[in-house]
Amino acid sequence: MFSTMMASLRPSPIQEMAELSRRAVAAGQDVVDMTLGEPDFPTPPHVGEAAVKAIADGQTRYTPINGTVRLREAIVEKFRRENGIHTTPGEISVGCGGKQVIYQAMLATLNPGDEVLIPAPYWASYGDIVTMHGGVLKPIRTSPAQGYAMQPEELEAAITARTKWLILNSPSNPSGTAYTRAQMEAFCAVLRRSPNQSFFILADDIYEHIVFDGAVFSTLANIAPDLKDRILTVNGVSKAYAMTGWRVGFACGPKPLIEAMTKIQMQVNSHTSSVSQAAAVAALEGPQDEVRRRCAAFQARRDLLLERFAHIEGLRTPRPEGAFYLFPDVRVFIGRSRADGGRIANDVDFAAYLLQHGVAVVPGSGFGMPGFMRLSYATSEDKLESAAARIKAAIERLQ
Ligand SMILES: Cc1ncc(COP(=O)(O)O)c(C=O)c1O
Repeated sequence: MFSTMMASLRPSPIQEMAELSRRAVAAGQDVVDMTLGEPDFPTPPHVGEAAVKAIADGQTRYTPINGTVRLREAIVEKFRRENGIHTTPGEISVGCGGKQVIYQAMLATLNPGDEVLIPAPYWASYGDIVTMHGGVLKPIRTSPAQGYAMQPEELEAAITARTKWLILNSPSNPSGTAYTRAQMEAFCAVLRRSPNQSFFILADDIYEHIVFDGAVFSTLANIAPDLKDRILTVNGVSKAYAMTGWRVGFACGPKPLIEAMTKIQMQVNSHTSSVSQAAAVAALEGPQDEVRRRCAAFQARRDLLLERFAHIEGLRTPRPEGAFYLFPDVRVFIGRSRADGGRIANDVDFAAYLLQHGVAVVPGSGFGMPGFMRLSYATSEDKLESAAARIKAAIERLQ
């Protein structure tokens, strides 16, 4: 009945755990939900006001496929101002979230057997988007000892003649790893000396504004203008401006690629909402101080959780440099017994066990790293305190 592609499509591990958490809550359990990757802050009021005005002004009709000229100009200016990337409205794609932009980039370029390199752990959707289009996912496994940072020699060893894309997401979902300029430059050196000079690089910068401890965000198209013809820089308003529901993501990249992606989008959903596009202009051009305040709030939450986790025997949690996730190593708990006599066989069992104790997390296997777990700390400090206490109690009960 269904296409053969459907067999390769897994249910989203994040949505699965979120659903289990919702069910537990519906059954009367008190759960701190740390599964979802969205800021808990509201969309800034001036953005909502711009949307209301857009409706009143009649901006309610079809727009160009790759976004209104007004929005694309605002995006060109954003890339210039914040990233030092010089681009033009004709090299911009606007879609229904960064996710659609990434989807279209893969659909436009992948042939069966093409390889896509991704440092693991990786955002679960990359894996499915790649395999849906016949691509072969080539994870480059990183280690907690190195803060989940891919090493240049690991990248070099992974590139083959079949490599079609390298996906670099910094700061990373799920590890929070953010590469420094020096680390990025080392990757660029590898890319420049590789015998394969034809593959694309996707820089997923969606967590750009959430970097901690005074770190300076860097992106490849700025560091290596000589590689600009191969780099697609993806970003959006979801995480920076707490606009996940508005569905606006964008990218700049080589014109032929952007045009191919636009051709696909024309047959999918034409464009994202005209009203959301007007809201995105207000977000990009409006005051940015709230973005900085929220980043500071995320840093305080990271520090709170890391401090509490340091007192949990056996839990090893690398210190992330950005985004709003922790990715602790829970391998030491695999094989231990629960109070009811059952055994924790893997990270999925471990996540289920924590849910019984009132904390919903996503098992690391959903991100290509079994034996780990992801917690989103985009929630209040009170809830984080209570989550840390519950995790500690649950772990102390294991034998
Ligand atoms: C790494 C990464 N890239 C892209 C996205 C896409 O976000 P959106 O489609 O809301 O722009 C997400 C969302 O969770 C993400 O975590």
